[in-house]
Amino acid sequence: MNAAELLKFRSVSKRFRLQSGTVDALNNVDMTVSAGEFVALSGPSGSGKTTLLMLAALLDRPSAGNIVFDGRETSSLSEIERSALRARSIGMIFQNYYLLPRRTVLQNVLFRFRYLPNPPQEPRATALQALDMVGLRGFADRPAGLLSGGEMQRVAIARAIAVGPKLLAADEPTGNLDADAARAVMECLARLKALGTAILLVTHNDALLCYAQRCLRCHHGTLEDRG
Ligand SMILES: Nc1ncnc2c1ncn2[C@@H]1O[C@H](COP(=O)(O)OP(=O)(O)OP(=O)(O)O)[C@@H](O)[C@H]1O
Ligand SMILES: [Mg+2]
Repeated sequence: MNAAELLKFRSVSKRFRLQSGTVDALNNVDMTVSAGEFVALSGPSGSGKTTLLMLAALLDRPSAGNIVFDGRETSSLSEIERSALRARSIGMIFQNYYLLPRRTVLQNVLFRFRYLPNPPQEPRATALQALDMVGLRGFADRPAGLLSGGEMQRVAIARAIAVGPKLLAADEPTGNLDADAARAVMECLARLKALGTAILLVTHNDALLCYAQRCLRCHHGTLEDRG
C-alpha cells in the first residue's frame, strides 16, 4: 500500500441476511482514500452509501474482500484491536448528531475520550480546543439539548475530532440543516481537511460537492468515480 493511502477497499462486498433472504448492499467495491483527502459519496437511497461508510469506519465487517486502514489489514485484527484503532484514528458523525441532551456541550466532547486506550493528558483543554475548531467554545457549559440543529452537529464534529482522527466519516451530516447551518458545518469540515484529516462525506446535496476533491457515486452497491 502506498504511504499516502489511508483507506483501501479491495473487492469489498457486503451481504445482509434477512429471514426473507439476502440483500447484496455492496458488490466488489474498490476504493482508495488518501491521507488528508476530502471525498464525497452520493447516490440514490438504498444504493449502499451508509453500508460503505460503516465499513470504512470499521463499525462493520465486509462479507468478502479486504479493507486496509492506515497500513493495517483490518480483517486480521481482533475485535479489541479494531475498536482501539477506531477509537484512536476514526471519527464518525451522523445525520441525527447522537448527543447526550442533558449533558453540557463540553461533557459531550469529553465523552469521546472514554473509549481511548490513551486519553489526552489534559482532556478539558483538548475538548475546548476541539470546540474552538467548530466555533463553539463559548457554548461549553450549555446543555447540548438546547442548541440548534446546526450547533448540535458542530458539537458532534468537535466530539469526533477531539482525538485527532486520521479519518472523519460523515453520514449526511447536513441532512437536517438549512443552507446556512449546512455551510457552517461544511466549513468546519474544510478546516479539518486543511489540518490533514481525510474526510469521507455522504451527501444527497449536490451543492456541497464543491467542498470535496473527488466525488464517488454509489449505484446498486457498486461505486463509480466521478472525478
Ligand atoms: N442491517 C441491514 N440488514 C438488512 N439489510 C440492510 C441492512 N442495512 C442496509 N440494508 C440494505 O442494504 C441496502 C443499502 O442500504 P444503505 O443503508 O447502505 O443505503 P443508503 O445508500 O445509505 O441509503 P439512504 O440514502 O436511504 O440512506 C438497502 O437495500 C438496505 O435495505
Ligand atoms: Mg444512508
